[in-house]
Amino acid sequence: MKLALVTRSPMHARADVLVLGRYADPARPAAEVAALDKQLDGLLSTVLKTEKFEGKSGQISHFYTGGRIPAGRVLVVGLGPRRNGDAEPVRRAAAAAVRRARDLGAASAAVFMPADGLPARVRAQAIVEGGVLGTYRFDKYLREKNGKVIESLAVVEPERRSQAAAREGVRLGEVWAAATCLARDLVNEPANVVTPAFLAERAREIARVGRLGLKVLEREDCADLAMGAYLGVAQGSQEPPKFIHLTYAPRARARKRVVVIGKGITFDSGGLDLKTADGMLRMKDDMSGAAAVLGIFEALPRLKLPVEVHGLIAATENMPSGTAQRPGDVVRAMNGLTIEIGNTDAEGRLTLADALAYAAKVIEPDEMVDMATLTGAVVIALGLGVSGVLASHDGLAHRVLAAAAAAGETMWRLPLHEDYKEGLKSDIADLNNISSQRGGGAIVAGLFMRDFTAGIPWAHLDIAGTAFAEREHALGPKGATGVAVRSVLGYLTALGGKR
Ligand code: BES
Ligand code: MN
Ligand code: ZN
Repeated sequence: MKLALVTRSPMHARADVLVLGRYADPARPAAEVAALDKQLDGLLSTVLKTEKFEGKSGQISHFYTGGRIPAGRVLVVGLGPRRNGDAEPVRRAAAAAVRRARDLGAASAAVFMPADGLPARVRAQAIVEGGVLGTYRFDKYLREKNGKVIESLAVVEPERRSQAAAREGVRLGEVWAAATCLARDLVNEPANVVTPAFLAERAREIARVGRLGLKVLEREDCADLAMGAYLGVAQGSQEPPKFIHLTYAPRARARKRVVVIGKGITFDSGGLDLKTADGMLRMKDDMSGAAAVLGIFEALPRLKLPVEVHGLIAATENMPSGTAQRPGDVVRAMNGLTIEIGNTDAEGRLTLADALAYAAKVIEPDEMVDMATLTGAVVIALGLGVSGVLASHDGLAHRVLAAAAAAGETMWRLPLHEDYKEGLKSDIADLNNISSQRGGGAIVAGLFMRDFTAGIPWAHLDIAGTAFAEREHALGPKGATGVAVRSVLGYLTALGGKR
């Protein structure tokens, strides 16, 4: 999709469809909208009145302009009640409107949203994110593709003093949305395509284009580093594991050094503790955290943030076989801790344990954030619309949550309740990878992983419920959501101190 900024008034915007956002309380329609209505001989106000348009969120009216303005059609979209400073209504309305414009056969759309306390940069970025994410499709395997496609999307910003900010917003929206779509594509691809080697190849491509540092550690390299927890998971699969380490370094001296880790189980069968058919069906998405890391690293060189960022993916399948890890096995992680395997299906925390230990020992960052489809328990706790946040450091937790809120990704902090550590005790090893006590599985997984963070401030995002949508939603179709990409980009941007 081609993206642009239109600096003229909406009345002069040239597009198949001109989208106008409208809040539920229409007290003072923007001057541009009044002028537009006049140019349309009052058609806009007549249509809105006749159709009893109230500006409820998601409500849409459209009509033909009969040559009165350059745009062939006007589409009005409701933004709901004014919520000062929240960009999500704009993002969602843009998504709904551009999707509808596409379904009406339009190839181009220009979007004008009222200011309402939203800075021009934020507003333009939200429009682009909504438009791009809302029209996302994964159709590469379909013989019959839907031919209706929006080819160009323009943000309309007639206010002269806002135009530089709006241009910046369009660019950020383009980069953030592209990163999210990259993550979505990787997750939607089936596990027979996305193997650990495939992820390593994608990382290589992203590193080449963005001039990033890249190291891919093979099984032997990981053995030399004593990553017994990760390699224990990998030993059941025919697909060789790949430990991916991407590095983005700013030109100037970095203000902070951070590590971003993604769970990269390209298929989670459960291992010898095999999942049920139903439980296994969607487990190609168990590399959603890894996909988010790759999306973020595609974006980083385009954003030029003054932060040093390392991306880690301990990629492997989790398979049952004659060489697979057994329940009851004991492995030793890179930081020396021994782990009894209480359940081979609690594999994510084992791979992340070695990634965290590697980060702490080799990279020595100021902070670490991981993204992982880690537990069914987080779905029980928070449902399919809210990601869990577990963090060893309050300041970091607050910054991650603030970035998530600004991105419109709902996240909620769960406590690392110390008493639950008791359940992770093993008779013969330092830790068990599952708890002997009932409930609180998302917290227990967080407590397990914290033992590998060496006291470095760390936040863990459990995206098991949010990485893959079972139904169409405001910002996209069924399937991968690309969750956490934009939240973590926002968190990294804020670390850089700009904006
Ligand atoms: N990848 C799963 C978690 C998951 C479950 C993601 C449902 C998305 C939807 C993870 O590896 C897993 O199997 N977790 C187990 C842990 C248990 C054995 C302690 C779980 O949540 O059941
Ligand atoms: Mn599992
Ligand atoms: Zn898993």
